[in-house]
Amino acid sequence: MLFLRIHISFVILLLPAFLHAQHALIPAPVRAAIQPGAFHIDEETEVLYDVDSMDVRAVAEDICERIGRVSSFRPSARLHTGTTIPRNSILLSLREATENMLPEGYVLRIAPNGARITASSAAGMFYAVQTMRQLLPARFESTAGRDTVRGWDATCCLIVDAPRFAWRGLMLDCARHFLDVDFIKHTLDVMALLKLNRLHWHLSDDQGWRLEIKRYPALTSVGAWRTEADGRRYGGYYTQQQVRDIVAYAAARNITVVPEIDMPGHMRAAIAAYPVLSCTQERLEVPHTWGVFKDVLCPGRDETLTFMDDVLDEVMALFPSQWIHLGGDEVPPDRWEACSRCRARMENEGLQDVHALQSWFMTRMAGTLAAQGRRMIGWDEILSGPLAPDAVVQCWRSIDSATAAVERGHDVIVSPTSHAYFDYPLSRIDMERVYAFDPIPTDLKPSKQGHILGGEAEMWTERAPQDRIERRLYPRLLAMAEVLWTAELQRNFSNFRDRVTKYYPRLDSLGIRYGFETLPVQLLPSYDSSGVITFDTKTRQGGLQLQCLEFQSNGSVREVATPFIATGAGEVGAMARKNDRLQSDTLRLCYDAHEAMLARVQYSRPYSPHYTGGGDSALVDGILGSVDHRDGHWQGFTGGDMVIDIRLDPPRSVHELQLGFLQHTRAGILPPDSVEAEIRFAAGSRDDNDTRVVLTLPLRSAAADRKGETPRRLVYSLEGDTGEDRIRPGSDSRFDHIRLSIKAPKSLPAWHRNNGGTAWLFIDECVLH
Ligand code: ACM
Ligand code: ZN
Repeated sequence: MLFLRIHISFVILLLPAFLHAQHALIPAPVRAAIQPGAFHIDEETEVLYDVDSMDVRAVAEDICERIGRVSSFRPSARLHTGTTIPRNSILLSLREATENMLPEGYVLRIAPNGARITASSAAGMFYAVQTMRQLLPARFESTAGRDTVRGWDATCCLIVDAPRFAWRGLMLDCARHFLDVDFIKHTLDVMALLKLNRLHWHLSDDQGWRLEIKRYPALTSVGAWRTEADGRRYGGYYTQQQVRDIVAYAAARNITVVPEIDMPGHMRAAIAAYPVLSCTQERLEVPHTWGVFKDVLCPGRDETLTFMDDVLDEVMALFPSQWIHLGGDEVPPDRWEACSRCRARMENEGLQDVHALQSWFMTRMAGTLAAQGRRMIGWDEILSGPLAPDAVVQCWRSIDSATAAVERGHDVIVSPTSHAYFDYPLSRIDMERVYAFDPIPTDLKPSKQGHILGGEAEMWTERAPQDRIERRLYPRLLAMAEVLWTAELQRNFSNFRDRVTKYYPRLDSLGIRYGFETLPVQLLPSYDSSGVITFDTKTRQGGLQLQCLEFQSNGSVREVATPFIATGAGEVGAMARKNDRLQSDTLRLCYDAHEAMLARVQYSRPYSPHYTGGGDSALVDGILGSVDHRDGHWQGFTGGDMVIDIRLDPPRSVHELQLGFLQHTRAGILPPDSVEAEIRFAAGSRDDNDTRVVLTLPLRSAAADRKGETPRRLVYSLEGDTGEDRIRPGSDSRFDHIRLSIKAPKSLPAWHRNNGGTAWLFIDECVLH
């Protein structure tokens, strides 16, 4: 363990330099010594390079341009081959590079008399410049007041740096929502600053085809446009000229643009344009709803193969990337099973089942890429069948598939939903969780780790039009950048968070509308024996102002002091602000402070570890669920019939019982078939002398339509007016035990689109008044 110890002491030596530096370097370099003093850049400063190559010259020009944009002067660049280095210069040296320098690595020395960058490639020099930007004031990123700027001070340092992973990616989904060219360029600018080097550009999906293909103009004239639920037309696409422009813009920032044409699923937009591509040939609209659609490409038709070959020809002409992403995710087999051409294809090619058919199709398309020396990337579903040996697997469903892919000899990009999905809310993936990500699976042998190319942040845009993307990307992308660049042993979250705090002025200068680091505000309930709920607001991010709100039944909202004492039923809210610029969504919680709060609950079957609702007291915590099954207040069960026992101590007089269920048909969450409540009177209660009488009462269901598509909360209730005078208010019948016998399906019924799949039962609360 000597090796480990050396590294740890090294880290400890370094940390104070970071902590006390006024500058924040993100991602943290391998070795950095911040030194006293500064190099003053002014109108006399020259930018020099010692080898005359086009890409090194481009880095030198980039430095001049960056300084010129924010100053009253602009340095010039020239070749310098002499042995003495002039004072007041920034030298880019390829000659000084040693053989063991990694391609994207660099050494950056800044001293009072000048700066020197040594690297074995222009990419390394470019990254040294990105580090140097962070040693200049945050104002360096903004053109405001440039005419009065006569100089800049770069903090002295010695930095030795190189990335941990070669693949440091960001995926932008421009299909679900269209992102304009300027937005993409701005995002490329920030990616470069963060030393990210792959833009995975998701250019086609069910809800829109975004890439001009000359041979098939309807892909964009039809496939790029959809009609939203409110009748509005929505869409857009990139012309081939715009694509070339973006690819070049990215290349100048050491970023490879990797296009994704997702096939054979997620193709509804293409099928809307060319119905001949599908099994049914039905004329379909470009959909405006989200999810997985059954209409996919028909691999049984030769026309489909020709079409995709033609599309990929134009894609490869536009994108020089050695990798082309062909998707391959989420392909329902329904249409293929019913299609005579697909069955004929399976027969002719000796394919056992629809999985083999998908695998055949993907391999066929990988061949089209290979013919032009390109490699296919596919989502991890492509592991379910044979695969071209050089195919790159992108793991998303879990990190376990990374190990499986490496065992089969593939290179892997790791971007699991657990850490890398930036469309997920901060309640599931916050900055700290992203920072805890490690692309190397723990069970992978060290000798195989080289197959892990790196990782990627996934910015899916179903629920994020362009104006909401930056608040989802940042600051979480800073964490991903450090995960993918910085050595694992050097990562330390609290140190990182301090640097992020210092980094915000730079993001402000760059005009980035960043969001929160973590769920900005929580509403925490507490309970005592008086039957009220006391709510307090809480945050884990520094520098925020919190507000607590009460939503009144007449629709008005008022700010209330905390702690807020809630009696009866109502809705409480909370909001966070930072510097008046950043405002959180309003968190809203419905509550019902009732008699059974804090009762003891026992289950005949455990609730799902993914949907605990907060644990054993979730059904009696007075907090109601919303229509979002992932809001943390729902308890989810599978397996059909079940029994829940609720014990009241001391016994209570009760006149109303309500049970809350969720109906979310698409997600397989159905209300129960029936619920029976057995109520046991407490000893000494009014009910004659029989303290063990059990009432069995069917509960009234509010679930008129069990197939309803819109998620909703359903209340099953039993009140005193059902004819049972024994539970009327004012009676002294006191109960100490309620048993709920719930009948619910185990699997989804025949009318459901996932007929035979797992049926879920979601309960949020058992309210007793
Ligand atoms: C994916 O999220 N369907 C790759
Ligand atoms: Zn077919």
